Amino acid sequence: MIRKYRYGNPFPTGAVACEIAAEKKEQTAFRLNAEGEFTLALAPEDCVYGLGEAVRGINKRGWHYESCNEDDPIITEKRIALYGAHNFIVVAGKKGVFGAFFDCADRVLFDIGYTDPDELRVKAVADFDLYIVEGKSAVEVVREFRKLIGDSYIPPKWAFGFGQSRWGYRCEADIREVADGYAESDMPLDMIYLDIDYMDHYKDFTVNKERYPDLKALAADMKKRGIRLIPIIDAGVKVEKGYDIYEEGVEKGYFCKDAEGEPYVVGVWPGDSVFPDVLNPEARKWFGSKYRILLDEGIEGFWNDMNEPSIFYSKKRLAGVLEKVASARGRNMPLEEYHGILGAIGTLANNRADYAEFFHDTPNGTVSHLSVHNLFGCYMTRAAAEYFEEYQPDKRYLLFSRSSHIGMHRYGGIWTGDNASWWTHLLLNLKMLPSLNMCGFLYVGADIGGFGDNTSEDLLLRWTALGIFTPLMRNHSTLDTRMQECFRFKDKKTFRNLLGIRYALVPWLYSEFVKSATRGDMMFRPLAFDFPNDRRARTVEDQLMVGEGLMIAPVYEQNAAGRYVYLPEEMKMIRMRSATDYEETMLSAGDHYLEIPLTETVFFLRKGHALPLAEPAKCVDALDETKLRWIVSGNAAEYEMYVGNGESKSELKTALRKLKVPQEKK
Ligand code: GLC
Repeated sequence: MIRKYRYGNPFPTGAVACEIAAEKKEQTAFRLNAEGEFTLALAPEDCVYGLGEAVRGINKRGWHYESCNEDDPIITEKRIALYGAHNFIVVAGKKGVFGAFFDCADRVLFDIGYTDPDELRVKAVADFDLYIVEGKSAVEVVREFRKLIGDSYIPPKWAFGFGQSRWGYRCEADIREVADGYAESDMPLDMIYLDIDYMDHYKDFTVNKERYPDLKALAADMKKRGIRLIPIIDAGVKVEKGYDIYEEGVEKGYFCKDAEGEPYVVGVWPGDSVFPDVLNPEARKWFGSKYRILLDEGIEGFWNDMNEPSIFYSKKRLAGVLEKVASARGRNMPLEEYHGILGAIGTLANNRADYAEFFHDTPNGTVSHLSVHNLFGCYMTRAAAEYFEEYQPDKRYLLFSRSSHIGMHRYGGIWTGDNASWWTHLLLNLKMLPSLNMCGFLYVGADIGGFGDNTSEDLLLRWTALGIFTPLMRNHSTLDTRMQECFRFKDKKTFRNLLGIRYALVPWLYSEFVKSATRGDMMFRPLAFDFPNDRRARTVEDQLMVGEGLMIAPVYEQNAAGRYVYLPEEMKMIRMRSATDYEETMLSAGDHYLEIPLTETVFFLRKGHALPLAEPAKCVDALDETKLRWIVSGNAAEYEMYVGNGESKSELKTALRKLKVPQEKK
């Protein structure tokens, strides 16, 4: 049951997929205080879940958050906003459970027991719709909410393979080295990502011919080897005379404009750049159609980046700072002035005052970017998805984005941005998964091994052991950090085994994903969602339920020989050294200390469930889903599996099979 309340005249975000009429009389658990905040008293046992991409816990109590899409690669606990705006929370506890979605194009502030530990306060800074979602359980509330926001994006099946990325692959030879490195080490690989260096001077939809003389031939050659190339597309379009996309966009008025109606120029990768006005349906259609240039090269997937949109500097602000620097030249600068200059440099990037200086032409009139800032990434991704739909309506493309808003989950997935090679970020990766799923984002993953800073072999091993369960499984790192491809490390055998386990799990992962997407379920759930009456389960922040009946409990600390795992009920422990070498042991409910060496992956299966395993293969297309081995826990009669190559949308209508499951091996 969902009730909608309208406050003012909100800008339509596009988050909701089905219109429902607003109620006349407000009737929610919240109270409105004098500051215009929605408040709710929290009992000690109440948990607050949600907010998608955010720092800290699965239970969000004890901190404050703000949806304000932001590109800042230093992701520490002090952050209150990351790259996405996911304004949905689920309150579960003493008085039952309900969800609240603040559908607002502008910022929403969530104070979840930060100012007052016993109170939840939410405030939207602009007009909004509030949806109150009721259900008997958290799982049901999420299901209802997901009906409201529409079906989640389903990528092609090959996108469940493993992908290797790095900002720093400069040319075709580098790409071939990665493909060969994996092949020679007998490790599977489905995707190699092309970061900004494939472009000609960072110009969207161009290819640098010196570095990639024949991208089409390279893409075809790679595809023969089972590998797809996935280029990046940035939000900023280079300002350059003679660059057709820039010139066309200017002529048609398709870039965001300043108050004088001129394209608003900022500095991003290409230097002077302009943003496509993706909130203008015509401009969106035009920008989306440009993806065709790369589709024609044989490309079948993209990652959209820098679409908060990220600004290194605006021309105006930079000019002011440069003036200050110039005026200091040759003088003995007072310390205050020096710090003033440093401070001014610090305000150049992503300055909200700059976001207020440009405008969108929307069907609802001209609006300041600032008031719809959180929608940009969502609409950029929508541009691509709408074009794919028009160009090849039945084909599934891989598409994911850095910035997002609820609603974008219908068009693509997300990766969680510029994390670092820190153990805390491995755990954060785990904690974000259920929160993202609640908000409709199912095709999700983090940069495995960490994007910034140097990884270590043990961190990459442990992180890969978590990554084998995430739908988007991509190892990505930044310039000037230690090379991070699995084949570069000493213990190749364990990396090979881990990736083998991933591929053995693909038929299951894919089936669980599609079932979650089509049924409005979460693929990753906090333990408390599956065991609502278990008080202990509510406090578990480092284990997750995955799909039907599986539980994961990764090791996320350096030099740990194992970890404590809490089992809410008797479960089967599966201890894998490889996809074919594993032990199954029934464990009783309660706490267990388990030794988990770097060479082993341990997970758990609830009774009454079965897990199909394929023979590992070098890529997803080569998997033989007719030859399955089964791990069975208790009495499981059948397993619902999605079969097929997973390339078309229509295939899904006939791809569900009920497979008979063999008896449990005792
Ligand atoms: C941004 C992206 C990162 C990418 C880099 C260069 O930082 O988040 O993934 O590698 O830009 O394109």
